[in-house]
Amino acid sequence: MSGSMASHMADNVVRVCAQADIAPETVKAFEVGDNRLAVYNIGGTFYVTDDECTHAAASLAEGMLEGDVIECCVHFGAFDVKTGEVKAPPCAVPLRTYKVVLQGGDVYVDLDKNAAGESA
Ligand code: FES
Repeated sequence: MSGSMASHMADNVVRVCAQADIAPETVKAFEVGDNRLAVYNIGGTFYVTDDECTHAAASLAEGMLEGDVIECCVHFGAFDVKTGEVKAPPCAVPLRTYKVVLQGGDVYVDLDKNAAGESA
């Protein structure tokens, strides 16, 4: 939570990209402050996770998106994009997800919340 913001803006919501930047069934990485985030368009619904694989320093946006699952291009570990759950080894640590907010044709994320809306 950002203490310097007005109290009614408790959420740490930042703009990531335009919805039009991500074609359906694709993923792209964006730098947002100190974070590098992967934005996915799955059937017209947007999801955001950390871009870095939890196994080693690889960009998931360079991997293969198959339905709801992103496969890392380095050792072929995989994660469920919607929940961050590990789907294939050698990954063992779940992927961080972010709560997505769509507004005015843009994709925003709440950096303090995961995809389920829980504090993270
Ligand atoms: Fe992603 Fe190893 S770096 S599976």
